[in-house]
Amino acid sequence: MADKAFLELEGKRYEFPLVKGSEGEVGIDIKTLRAQTGAVTLDPGYKNTGACQSSITFLNGEKGELRYRGYSIDELAEKASFLEVAYLLIFGEFPTAAQIQQFESDIQKESKLDDKLVQIIDSFPSSAHPMGVLASATSALIAFNPSSVNVSSEEDMYNAIVKIMGKFPILVAYAQRKLTGQPYVGPDASLDYMQNFCKMMFSKEGTDYNANPIILDALNKLLILHADHEQNCSTSTVRIVGSSHAGLYASISAGISALWGPLHGGANQAVLEMLEAIEKDGGDTKKYMAKAKDKSDAFRLMGFGHRVYKNFDPRAKIIKVAADQVLADLGVHDPILDVAKGLEKEALEDQYFVDRKLYPNVDFYSGIIYRAMGIPVEMFTVLFALGRIPGWIAQWREMRLNNEPIGRPRQIFTGETLRPLNR
Ligand code: SDX
Repeated sequence: MADKAFLELEGKRYEFPLVKGSEGEVGIDIKTLRAQTGAVTLDPGYKNTGACQSSITFLNGEKGELRYRGYSIDELAEKASFLEVAYLLIFGEFPTAAQIQQFESDIQKESKLDDKLVQIIDSFPSSAHPMGVLASATSALIAFNPSSVNVSSEEDMYNAIVKIMGKFPILVAYAQRKLTGQPYVGPDASLDYMQNFCKMMFSKEGTDYNANPIILDALNKLLILHADHEQNCSTSTVRIVGSSHAGLYASISAGISALWGPLHGGANQAVLEMLEAIEKDGGDTKKYMAKAKDKSDAFRLMGFGHRVYKNFDPRAKIIKVAADQVLADLGVHDPILDVAKGLEKEALEDQYFVDRKLYPNVDFYSGIIYRAMGIPVEMFTVLFALGRIPGWIAQWREMRLNNEPIGRPRQIFTGETLRPLNR
């Protein structure tokens, strides 16, 4: 294959080098485009634009494949713990027994919140959406951990990483307890990461708590499946905020806000609200399919479609199987699952969806499992964020270690040309 691309512009011919990835992806290196031609590219939504070179996550949208550091998501979801996958994403290799033990111990040491931070969270109205609480609380972490801002050394970076890995689950659990009017339950250092998280989330005041292994396994799997997804909207946000050398927690707080949007991570909440509306409407999926195809109607089939996957989202396949399993194991019959399956079947046979290669994505079934666990719908995207923390850390760390330049896209100006202010 050629190692250059050529461009003809206003009678002149330019050449640009090609960059080839380890999976055969080809990028045209246009670092000198404006200097050579005076022109810039225009690509709203960056649908055709690579922002960086990365060795963390590979996904093949046509084949529906997803790998973290070369390991298939199917294998990781079955054989690894969420903390092992977090370590793999962040540091690049699957941890040894000694490494994961040290990592978990360092995280456990940081599993505590400053009382004043708890007071900040307490000051939010109970009606506050937990994603807004989480974005604010994550930013507030900076005030209580100032050394986490300028992580110039590997040691500072590691300390900032284990701090947020230890504190974020507590923030998530507290956000849920605030939402459901339950008292704060602090971390229990005698438990491992997932058991501690479940206790903080689900324990009832004055009773002993033993985490249900079905819930532990399902949550572990869901967090792994959400852990990273290359240059999606929220991860790109984390990278571009970090590219100004803002700190890790400030960058992650920005990522949480980006994830909140219903076109992105907020879709899992929007899917459940859509399925409940359809169920309330007598299960009339045809009406909602028609709405989704009606260009004059802003309604979209939430949980369907993807910028990159033009095949089944491999995570959706795993979560769909898990949904059946978890609901059966918990003895939960949720008519919403039947509505979801009916909608999926209809969409996969509908020409509009087939032509546009719209398949269920990660958000289509995940909320059904969270709902079976008794997690409020407003918390679904928060659980997505908890899973995505290691991916955001890994991508931010890679961006800083690669000394990437500050992100600053260009534009094509279409406004008023120079005019005098006659007054
Ligand atoms: C996530 O990027 C990531 O990796 C994200 C993520 C991650 O792990 O980080 O995977 C997580 O965000 C998953 C996506 C969750 N969002 C939703 O489920 C919301 C519903 N989906 C859509 O809004 C949409 O599919 C997007 C936002 C996900 C992707 O939009 P694109 O790539 O910008 O595609 P598009 O809007 O240009 O759509 C192409 C066509 C359009 O029709 P035409 O103009 O060609 O006639 O498909 C149509 C769209 O109208 N379309 C839909 C649709 N999604 C796309 N029509 C109805 N229902 C939908 N869901």
